[in-house]
Amino acid sequence: MSFAFGIGIGTQNKKGDWLEVFYQQPVMAPGSVLMEVVSNTLGYQGGNQAIQAKAEQLSELASALRRAGETTQAILAEKASQSSRPVAVTILDTDDAASSTPEVYLKLHLISHRLAKPHSLKLDGIFGLLPNLAWTSEGAIDLEELPERQLQARIEGHTLEVKSVDKFPQMTDYVVPSGVRIADTARVRLGAYVGEGTTVMHEGFINFNAGTEGTSMIEGRISAGVMIGKGSDLGGGCSTMGTLSGGGNIIISVGENCLIGANAGIGIPLGDRCTVEAGLYITAGTKVALLDDHNELVEVIKARDLANKPDLLFRRNSQTGAVECKTNKSAIELNEELHANN
Ligand SMILES: CC(C)(COP(=O)(O)OP(=O)(O)OC[C@H]1O[C@@H](n2cnc3c(N)ncnc32)[C@H](O)[C@@H]1OP(=O)(O)O)[C@@H](O)C(=O)NCCC(=O)NCCS
Repeated sequence: MSFAFGIGIGTQNKKGDWLEVFYQQPVMAPGSVLMEVVSNTLGYQGGNQAIQAKAEQLSELASALRRAGETTQAILAEKASQSSRPVAVTILDTDDAASSTPEVYLKLHLISHRLAKPHSLKLDGIFGLLPNLAWTSEGAIDLEELPERQLQARIEGHTLEVKSVDKFPQMTDYVVPSGVRIADTARVRLGAYVGEGTTVMHEGFINFNAGTEGTSMIEGRISAGVMIGKGSDLGGGCSTMGTLSGGGNIIISVGENCLIGANAGIGIPLGDRCTVEAGLYITAGTKVALLDDHNELVEVIKARDLANKPDLLFRRNSQTGAVECKTNKSAIELNEELHANN
């Protein structure tokens, strides 16, 4: 069985290089019938490949898919055959590292369509395959071609709006997964996994290969690679430490029913039902005083030794400045209140 498949409509620059691809209905683990039709009509002979298909090829593909009972993809191929933009039929036989822009886009789509979880796909080397682009009111534009397009727009009497200059587009221009609320769509990148029931407020941010499992209120930053468990909330301006820069190599995650307070941060993975006090940043090496139920010191350990442990409350003692950890008694109560109006 092949790994993934997608019929996508994309953008190329004047040199014919792919800039981006939109796959409306990517497929995970396509069946052998679908793959056989693609082989017969597009000459696909195996491996990972993005085939630039012409209108006639797409019509032929559509008819063959229909005959084979692959109706959804047949309709897509039919529509794509009318496209004024280039069409990529992308087949990933395996999850090997991508070798072209359309392949990377297919992988990012699989995550944002919730067909694959963050960390489940091989994303090595994707930065080199994603061109830095101007994301504009007229779609993706190669930066070298931007001045000319800006002038052309003015000549035609309108303004070309440049929404961002980045390697990744915003997710919602490609897919809006069910049951989510995103106050500022620019803050969620394609390749984010936004679970059903998640609200991302204006301060919230979700990077690619990162996201939420389910219901969550996100008002802080979910860095690349970080996954947030069901029922957990990120308070305003809080931070989860990523692994892309700064040498951090512990993969951060947050368990279920946790609360990371406003302006707090974590450099260790949290277990279920943990709370981090507003404003407290816990790094892996932070020395933490473990307190018992009577607030008596049990021992001093490094925060990394508390990684993934459940039911912890971290706070900075407002009188001594020491970082303390106690059993968390109010986590669930706090979260239920916060989720009442998701
Ligand atoms: C850490 C936190 C969860 C503690 O809240 P709590 O469990 O309700 O605790 P309380 O404020 O009732 O305090 C319990 C006791 O601990 C003491 N205490 C609380 N924080 C303390 C601190 N940092 N240092 C010393 N004592 C502290 C209180 O004074 C109180 O003492 P008492 O028993 O003598 O009355 C809370 O302060 C917090 O930071 N919440 C995050 C909220 C947030 O940021 N939400 C997101 C918004 S966008």
